[in-house]
Amino acid sequence: MEKLRDSKFRTILTARAGELEALKELAQKDPWKPVCHIHPECGLLNDPNGLAYFNGEYHVFYQWYPFGVIHGMKHWAHVKSGDLVHWKRMPVAIIPTEDYESHGAYSGSALEKDGELLLFYTGNIRYADEARSANLCMARMDKNYGITKAVANPLIEGVPAGYTGHVRDPKIWQDEDGKYCIFLGAQRKNRTGTLLVYESQDALQWKLRGELKTPMINFGYMWECPDYFRLDGRDILLFCPQGLAPAGHDYQNLYNVIYAVGKLDLANLTFETECVRELDKGFDFYAPQTFQDPAGRRLLLGWAGMSETEYPSDKNQWAHCLTLPRQLRLQDGVLRQMPARECQVLRTDCFSLRGCLTGNSVSIANDGNLYELDIDFTDIQSRDIMIELFKSEEERLLLRFDQVNGVVSLDRRSFLNNFTAPVGPVRTALFMPAERLAVKIVVDQSIAEVFINDGTVVFTARVFPQVRSTGIEIRADGNLVFDLAKYKLKRGI
Ligand code: FRU
Repeated sequence: MEKLRDSKFRTILTARAGELEALKELAQKDPWKPVCHIHPECGLLNDPNGLAYFNGEYHVFYQWYPFGVIHGMKHWAHVKSGDLVHWKRMPVAIIPTEDYESHGAYSGSALEKDGELLLFYTGNIRYADEARSANLCMARMDKNYGITKAVANPLIEGVPAGYTGHVRDPKIWQDEDGKYCIFLGAQRKNRTGTLLVYESQDALQWKLRGELKTPMINFGYMWECPDYFRLDGRDILLFCPQGLAPAGHDYQNLYNVIYAVGKLDLANLTFETECVRELDKGFDFYAPQTFQDPAGRRLLLGWAGMSETEYPSDKNQWAHCLTLPRQLRLQDGVLRQMPARECQVLRTDCFSLRGCLTGNSVSIANDGNLYELDIDFTDIQSRDIMIELFKSEEERLLLRFDQVNGVVSLDRRSFLNNFTAPVGPVRTALFMPAERLAVKIVVDQSIAEVFINDGTVVFTARVFPQVRSTGIEIRADGNLVFDLAKYKLKRGI
């Protein structure tokens, strides 16, 4: 079959003199560029890939198209950090130069083996007639960060019978008895999503075991970016089903992320599912991936972005960022996500305030959109509690707790850069109203991450405010006590 030819499928090796420098210069001047969230110097970032703690450092790779804010030829970009908050940009890790990855090095994950970090990724292939295929590929990173593609690539060529060309995003892990396993996101020929399970003794030769059986039968048309891990005595399956219809407070985005809590039985290829929930209730969150650090923590980073959406920063030649690293815990069947404790290293200039609201509001002095805000509300006798961020006369991001109905909402409709009209400007979630409410919000220029009650409800939201929109206000229609700390944040990348 003839392969698709399109100028967006060119690698960074074809950059003309000064081409990338010009893009970076434009992007760098953009006041919406994050300061502590991993983001591209120019071009488009999407999924986090290959997350790992290796050789005494944290490694994050991400999907990157260097030459513009479109989904073109995807590379694996690479940043590393000794402390999980200060990130150093490394040379591009995977440049898709080979036939078996002719239309991009798509997403995948990492595993340490014999002193090397193995990077499993998807060789994306596109044909002229809209058809596509995918190959499972691998590259090795040594302790000097030298990266070599496996001679045996592709490790799996093409897609198995019964599936469309949409088979990708390997999640690799090692089973207790030493064998290697991969979950691959896949689309059946009948246009429903599923996961394929592969096994290997040496991580090179892979055998298809079959589909993972779950109760999620007609659950979207494609499952992307699977992840699997054990946490607090349970198995967690995490993936991105595309094509779910909105249902109440769930699945309000174009594409959504869910996790299932239960028990994996590899021998029988089943995932006995106790519950299925949405991971993040915000507007801009997709393709998260997790890894375990040496202390045994399960850490997650997600793509703070959404496909098929034009963002206001596009005009400045860069798009999207990752979330902060979040630590996961499982309690009562709910995944709690909170920023990894290392994020506190970025704090500076603490401002604190304790007081009462009696049906009134209080403004918090603030002059920039780079801060962490921690608020504890107690003795709550209010039906409505509101926190407004990015506030100016015409703009605000409104976080509102409806204590009567137990619904929390995030509303970004007032921004002059109102960029996601088709899927609506408000997101909602259920929460448990009580006399106490704890809210942590991290704001970094054009991203806000909201963590409610120890991360039981989380919203990730991009906003593109006017420079003057920096106000913070809290308001309640009844009585409550608040205890607030605001920190400015230092540069992490
Ligand atoms: C998810 C995704 C993956 C794919 C990658 C390509 O956002 O579509 O399924 O591997 O992005 O960049």
